[in-house]
Amino acid sequence: MAGHFITFEGGEGAGKSTQIARLKTFLESHGKTVVVTREPGGSPGAEKIRQLLLSGEAKDLGPRGEAMLFATARADHVDTTIKPALERGDWVLCDRYADSTRVYQGEAGVDAAYLKLLETAAVAGIYPDLTLLIDVPAEIGLSRVAERSRSDDSGGPDRFEGEALKVHKRRREMFLALAKEEAHRFAVIDGSRDLDKVAADIQKAVTGAFAEEFEGTGGAKKVSEAAT
Ligand SMILES: Nc1ncnc2c1ncn2[C@@H]1O[C@H](COP(=O)(O)OP(=O)(O)O)[C@@H](O)[C@H]1O
Ligand SMILES: [Mg+2]
Repeated sequence: MAGHFITFEGGEGAGKSTQIARLKTFLESHGKTVVVTREPGGSPGAEKIRQLLLSGEAKDLGPRGEAMLFATARADHVDTTIKPALERGDWVLCDRYADSTRVYQGEAGVDAAYLKLLETAAVAGIYPDLTLLIDVPAEIGLSRVAERSRSDDSGGPDRFEGEALKVHKRRREMFLALAKEEAHRFAVIDGSRDLDKVAADIQKAVTGAFAEEFEGTGGAKKVSEAAT
């Protein structure tokens, strides 16, 4: 497909939303057309399901049922937002995607083979070119979320943020294990440092992964090429 598909993964408060905004600005400064989207949600239909999932209303369905709702939302998001953008040649920056389901619903005890079936059905062949895992210790992420809830009116932690520290720690380990297993598409970014450092690492990962798109624009790649 003509476009580029980058997903952001990591726990609550890792800095995904913050860094997506930064990367958008960076890519636009290089003349790219950027679509920012998120999961669950990212299309009108999927945003309705987001509401059910994050409010906890769908919790009664159990982890397997919730996983189906995530898949339903993802299918609509892929069909109505992601795939059309990639066909246009845009850069799609997605806040969480299928890896979050593997980790969150996997941690909640849903069988991996069942999750794989749902994932295959939902993504319909649309896999990320690059996944940026922003890694922070669970304590840091949660303290940032607590701070964020105090400073805006998001009404406190959602269904998934409000879980016990040990759950957040297990998710972190699962994300890191996934990044190892599928190292070809992952870049693990240390999100515990200051915003500018994290943003610089992300730009480096992106310009490295899509080097041909940044040739002649003064990127890091250019310097070594100029020397030859
Ligand atoms: N590297 C960082 N250092 C300190 N604070 C950060 C950093 N990255 C994000 N934050 C702050 O932490 C909070 C959570 O960041 P956010 O981008 O919303 O995380 P996420 O989308 O991964 O949940 C926000 O208030 C944000 O301003
Ligand atoms: Mg966010």
